Amino acid sequence: PKELLKVAAIVGSTNDDLKLESEQQQLPQGYAILAEAQTKGRGRRGKQWISPFGTNLYISLFWRLEEGLGRAMGLSLAVGLAIARVLREQLEIDQVSVKWPNDVYIEGKKVAGILIDIDSLEDGSARCIIGVGINLTLPDTVAQHIDQAWTDVNSHLPAPLQRNQFAGRLHQYLVDTLTDYERSGFTQFAPLWQQYDKFDNKPVRLLLGERKVEGICRGVDDTGALLVEVDGRVKRFFGGEISVRSA
Ligand code: BTN
Repeated sequence: PKELLKVAAIVGSTNDDLKLESEQQQLPQGYAILAEAQTKGRGRRGKQWISPFGTNLYISLFWRLEEGLGRAMGLSLAVGLAIARVLREQLEIDQVSVKWPNDVYIEGKKVAGILIDIDSLEDGSARCIIGVGINLTLPDTVAQHIDQAWTDVNSHLPAPLQRNQFAGRLHQYLVDTLTDYERSGFTQFAPLWQQYDKFDNKPVRLLLGERKVEGICRGVDDTGALLVEVDGRVKRFFGGEISVRSA
């Protein structure tokens, strides 16, 4: 493909389409598919991502990570930060935060989600399909099926967003972020994470399958692993579902 951003009408899932394209041809770094609607939008943990026509943003971006799977953890955090920054810096929305590993919130409600599908390739590199869904205007009729507190971008703007322009900006932020990430890893993003972290120094609960860990969130380490202080000792976690614990 010559264009770096392809616009599709209705797809199953932009992640699935992009994966297919990447298997059929060599894609340039940063190539992305943008869709108007998805009939099989996928969320994390096997959930559905509600994807009505024309009002939101569904985009998947291709990136080949030279260093392979080892660096994947921090990648997802960096992507969350790119989205948080574009909302803050380009749309001037305050109170944007990130939830480990990569959800984006406005005023404590989820506005965007990220789903990264990664495969190891024969040469040791990793193929990353980075899917981003951002609620721009979510009609109440569909939103009632969402099982958590949510919001949409347009509710926080004085005038409705120029969607295509925003998509272009977002794409640029993602490409810049991934380029920086590829060059020097997650370490450079750690201060930014602290700035946007929804949980920093808060009492949290982490669900790891059947296991439950309670402690105080101490941010993330240089690889992007979650740090939780449990009984005075800081432990690192690589997975799980985090939530704020009310006292
Ligand atoms: C989450 O559960 O928070 C992740 C949601 C990711 C949704 C996006 S929309 C574009 C891309 N295509 C999909 O099927 N899912 C991702």
